[in-house]
Amino acid sequence: MADNHWHRQSVLITGGRRLGRLLALDLADRGAAVALTYHTSRELVEQTVAECRAKSGRAIAVAADLREPQACRDVVKTVTTAFGQLDALVNLTSIYTPTPWSKLTDDDYHQAMASNLTAPYFMAVAAAKQMQQQPLREAIQGRILHFTDWAVERPYRRFLPYLVAKGGLVTLTKALAVELAPTILVNAIAPGTVLPPPDLSETDRQRVAASAALNRLGTPDDVLRLTMYLLSETTFVTGEVFRVDGGRFLGPPEQALADAPDAD
Ligand SMILES: NC(=O)c1ccc[n+]([C@@H]2O[C@H](COP(=O)([O-])OP(=O)(O)OC[C@H]3O[C@@H](n4cnc5c(N)ncnc54)[C@H](OP(=O)(O)O)[C@@H]3O)[C@@H](O)[C@H]2O)c1
Repeated sequence: MADNHWHRQSVLITGGRRLGRLLALDLADRGAAVALTYHTSRELVEQTVAECRAKSGRAIAVAADLREPQACRDVVKTVTTAFGQLDALVNLTSIYTPTPWSKLTDDDYHQAMASNLTAPYFMAVAAAKQMQQQPLREAIQGRILHFTDWAVERPYRRFLPYLVAKGGLVTLTKALAVELAPTILVNAIAPGTVLPPPDLSETDRQRVAASAALNRLGTPDDVLRLTMYLLSETTFVTGEVFRVDGGRFLGPPEQALADAPDAD
């Protein structure tokens, strides 16, 4: 695709704390207009937006609690007013809080669903309604990308409501792809650990690395490259969920030995 592709693109990223910040900087480097939302990370996002503006000239920060449907609609309006259109939505909104079974509360469920599923749902609906009013470019009116989690396929303990919500996001991806075809592409990325929580101990880090077939953690770049592919390089992929997890869903190398039938 031509280099100037990005100069005509405006991308809304919900959540500029970690992966969102890196994605925004990468897109700005390419010349795209970038909108970053924040809920609690105002200072960081405003700093990132200033860096993006220095690169592409077009970047805004938008404050919003995206658990509210009206807030999602307002964000879309702000972005289209600023940039004239909305070409892509990258839905990163998430909270990742341990909710051990022995202490599980009703509120754990509501909190996890609100940020991990309700917010991306209403954000995607609001964005798609806007995209459907836009002219076709290369037969496309827009793209929506969700971020789910590798573990929805092989769940681990202590994150029940988070995993249920991320599983819902997989269905949202496929159902929306059907609703919005043929002019809006909807896909999802299911990362493994590509940017570990800052408080992850070295022991846990090694344990997580050893639990993947590739025996290591990933990097943000592993996810960003696929993101760029889905946002610009393909016009023929929709309803797809891509694992980027170093084969963690397969289990560690010993798992393959444990599962193998006895040698003859
Ligand atoms: N990092 C990894 O290795 C990894 C692994 C598996 C899956 N993922 C998924 O990939 C995505 C990005 O990961 P990350 O590590 O960058 O996540 P992160 O740092 O936890 O960022 C989550 C973002 O969600 C925003 N958010 C949460 N609740 C919100 C609300 N009510 N309204 C508006 N914004 C809200 C936060 O904004 P504020 O900070 O402004 O509050 C934050 O920017 C997430 O969906 C995550 O589940 C990441």
